[in-house]
Amino acid sequence: MTGCEGGRSSRTVQPEDAEHGNWHAKRMFAQELVLKRRTEILNALCSSGSSEHLEKVLDILLAQGRLTWEDYQGVQAPGRTLYANGRQLLDLIHTKGADTCGLFLAALEQVLPEEQRAAFSASGCSASLDETEKAQSSSAETLLTQRPSLVSKLQGRVDGALDALVESGHFSSTEYDDVRLPIHTPAQQARRLLDHVRSKGESAASLLLQFIQQTPESGSSLSQDRPAFPKELRKYQKKLSSSVSAQSCFLSTYGGTSHMSLGDIFTEVQIDLPRNSNSHSPLGLEDVVSPVGSVNEEADTVLVLGEAGSGKSTLLQRLHLLWSQGAALHDFFLLFPFSCRRLNSEQKELSVQELLFQHCCWPDRGQEEIFHFILDHPHLILFTFDGLDELKERFSDEYRVCCPTQRAPVHVLLFNLIQGSLMKGVRKVVTSRPEAVDPGLKKHLHKELLLKGFSPSGIDCFVKKHHSDPTVAAKVLESLQANTALLGLCHSPVLCWIVSQCHKELLGCGEGGPQTITDVYILILQHFLQHQSPLQNSRGAGWLQEHLQTILHLGQLAFQGIANNCYIFSASELETWAVTEKDISTGFLVRSKNISPADCAHYEFLHVTIQCFFAALYIVLSGNTDRCPIPKLFELQNTRKTCVRGACFRACFHSRYEQEPSVGKGATAAETPNLQIAATFVAGLLSQRHQGLWLHCCSDAALQKKGRQVARCLSKGMQKHFRSIPQPVQGEAKSMHAMPDFVWLIKCIYEKQESRIAKDAMSKLEVDHLKLTYCNIGPVECTAIAFVLQHLKNPVGLQLDNNSVGDVGVEQLLPCMHICNSLHLRNNNITDEGIRKLIAKGIQCDNFQKIALFNNCLTDGCTQHFSHLLKTKQDFLSIRLGNNNITANGAKQLAEGLKFNRSLRYLGLWGNKIGDEGAEALASALQSSNSLVWLSLVGNGVGTAGAHALSNIIRNSSSLEELWLTDNSITRTGVESLIQALEKNTHVKSVWLINNDLSLEEIEEMKKRDSRLVF
Ligand SMILES: Nc1ncnc2c1ncn2[C@@H]1O[C@H](COP(=O)(O)OP(=O)(O)O)[C@@H](O)[C@H]1O
Ligand SMILES: [Mg+2]
Repeated sequence: MTGCEGGRSSRTVQPEDAEHGNWHAKRMFAQELVLKRRTEILNALCSSGSSEHLEKVLDILLAQGRLTWEDYQGVQAPGRTLYANGRQLLDLIHTKGADTCGLFLAALEQVLPEEQRAAFSASGCSASLDETEKAQSSSAETLLTQRPSLVSKLQGRVDGALDALVESGHFSSTEYDDVRLPIHTPAQQARRLLDHVRSKGESAASLLLQFIQQTPESGSSLSQDRPAFPKELRKYQKKLSSSVSAQSCFLSTYGGTSHMSLGDIFTEVQIDLPRNSNSHSPLGLEDVVSPVGSVNEEADTVLVLGEAGSGKSTLLQRLHLLWSQGAALHDFFLLFPFSCRRLNSEQKELSVQELLFQHCCWPDRGQEEIFHFILDHPHLILFTFDGLDELKERFSDEYRVCCPTQRAPVHVLLFNLIQGSLMKGVRKVVTSRPEAVDPGLKKHLHKELLLKGFSPSGIDCFVKKHHSDPTVAAKVLESLQANTALLGLCHSPVLCWIVSQCHKELLGCGEGGPQTITDVYILILQHFLQHQSPLQNSRGAGWLQEHLQTILHLGQLAFQGIANNCYIFSASELETWAVTEKDISTGFLVRSKNISPADCAHYEFLHVTIQCFFAALYIVLSGNTDRCPIPKLFELQNTRKTCVRGACFRACFHSRYEQEPSVGKGATAAETPNLQIAATFVAGLLSQRHQGLWLHCCSDAALQKKGRQVARCLSKGMQKHFRSIPQPVQGEAKSMHAMPDFVWLIKCIYEKQESRIAKDAMSKLEVDHLKLTYCNIGPVECTAIAFVLQHLKNPVGLQLDNNSVGDVGVEQLLPCMHICNSLHLRNNNITDEGIRKLIAKGIQCDNFQKIALFNNCLTDGCTQHFSHLLKTKQDFLSIRLGNNNITANGAKQLAEGLKFNRSLRYLGLWGNKIGDEGAEALASALQSSNSLVWLSLVGNGVGTAGAHALSNIIRNSSSLEELWLTDNSITRTGVESLIQALEKNTHVKSVWLINNDLSLEEIEEMKKRDSRLVF
């Protein structure tokens, strides 16, 4: 270099220098870009779920000599997720330096579709790819340097090339099979072929090159990314999408009328990952097929779980509609929707081809060609299966079918599709109720999603969409706000629909508005029946008696349907159960869609919960049962091993079905959830408060007897639970987690609305900790839990972590707060508003001493309430607020309360953003604390100033034992003050400082100074 750095500014910059400097800067920038845009690049490479982009980039980098063979294999380690492979590549590229980064960006530009490309190409820092085809010294080398174009040339010619290689003795039949494995896409087959040839040496390579040069590209081959779809296929796609559109534009709950289309009424539902403990942005509809939450890249099946009425079918229907309108799921050229309840009626054995064409859409011409296209382009195809829980057979992977033309019973086809032994690579979306999922299914899943119904704003939005008249909508919403139990129920879309539908009855209720699920279904019963004969619109109970025959007919149909896993009824079945035209005209039965028009009309209940409700009405109102089914209905799941509940249940009635397919085979998937729902309704219908309804409908004595039976069953069920509570492990409280029936029993007790039963049930419970984590507890369950638990004799710790309690649920829990000594609500979507209500009640409860709220939606808006709690309750022990959004201001407010508190022992603020300022405020409030034992400020952006302040707590507090400061940015000076403070303190046991701003040498040195420091 001439002259010193300082001289540069005075020199005139020559054009070449500028160019050179520019070039240099670009290279450097490329490397920086790879680092800074890591997430975007990763998403661009991997978010489609297909590995094709990544593999194409790898082809280019190999060809350009930027990756060694070992690098290449290292990036594609088998069994790793696509994203993990992507990350590996980015790490590698970055370590290889600026030039490789530039080439990588250029490769990315070449591979990505235009929309995605812009973000990286605009930077102008990608290098240009070397495109000149230099004369290669060997064929093997040519295979490498021309890999990208060879991969594309080989597609459609793989079979021919393989034949040539086998014939010439270069390939064994194992290699032949390996390349042709149907799990590979055509491009992957081409790559595998090239990789094998590479290991065979020069003569195989030259043979392959010759083959490619001499063989014309096969006409039927389609380039993988942008297939030039043949005409027949485009026609078929059109036909399929118009049939999907016709099936999905109306919801059956709106009677298939045009005044309310799915597009008009569809409201976002909450979708979550089932074991999600980290906050993430909310998932949307398209995430059903996006890579988010994937647990197994190799698997193709996405399982969407949700309770009855949580909106599973509607969600699929929405996806179908959007696809058919070209508004979503653009990656899928063909979408085949299936309904499991309909597949139940398929008696014949079918091949996959027949299944697709006969059940979804018949191709007018070119069937073979279309089916081949499907086989060759699995990644362009989507299958959806709604309601796996309603399939007659339970999932099993016993029978394997791998050949798409082989015929098999429909459920066997379905199970093989789900597992991926059939139609590997085709994305499948399956919905089911959670209770009905066989554990064996889980290992075949690409990912699992959980539908949690409407959010509070979703309810609002739905009601406004349902009622075009804003004053009506406002009135409905107002009455929901005044009845929080009902508001809680409205998180379930089906209940929200009923409540909106029955707004007239609802608004007429006055004080005693609906509280339970049964109340809501009685509303819809009344609504539909009175709608039918509006003239006799009497407020009294007479309406029920008037329609008793209809209720019994529909009830028997519903009941027999549930006992036999039948949800779609033919005209002859309706006749069998004496269902008349008049009964149908009530509106509870709707014409079944999707059954081919050649068939005569089939009917189904508006919703499965309505079918369960009618079955319950039948159990309560019918007198002609040989044996009463109530005890069997309430039997618990774990007793099913000895007595198949459905079978016993069926045996209580004379079945007029000739075949009873599921008897003796074990309970089917749907049986448990349906019987549980029906049982819940039976409990509700037999509640004292509804007795007036049944006057003159059946004998009072019989009703009383049934009511007593239910009470006895519930009490027995509870006792059984309590007896089976496992002994606690040391340090853990008794857990009831393994018994999902517990929540169901609680809900039945709530439906019964008799405190006596709740009291009786709780009198025998002796635990100090109730653990109901991951139990899918929402506001509805909270209402029931509070109704029952408030009668507990001794206070308990209530652990409701990882549910969907939300603010409405919190409000529902208030009636049982007085028996909670600790409340664990980690990961429950609670906001500051929920906390306000919770604490307002909490300060009045003597037992309440601990709260854990890790991973909710809390901000500085909640800290004033905690501050108030701390000032007011001088026996409060523990506050844990980790992983929320609390900043320095929130910490200052907390500090205000802490100044006045003499009892708090644990304070956890892990993963907030309180920074130095917040740490200083807390430290000054806590510095002379005689109660604080444990303080965590992990991951809070605390620096040296914060550490200085915190050392005052160590210096002055007589109680502190553990201080957690891991993942902050404390430097040597900060640690110095902590060390100095520790010198005067013997009761502090450890100060955690892992991952702060310290060099290895500094750590080594400080470790020696005080062994209580943990680095
Ligand atoms: N996202 C939604 N937007 C509007 N209404 C919905 C939505 N999801 C469900 N519903 C209403 O609830 C009813 C029941 O939903 P459904 O999808 O059949 O539930 P599931 O299949 O989970 O039992 C629907 O018929 C519809 O009236
Ligand atoms: Mg459904």
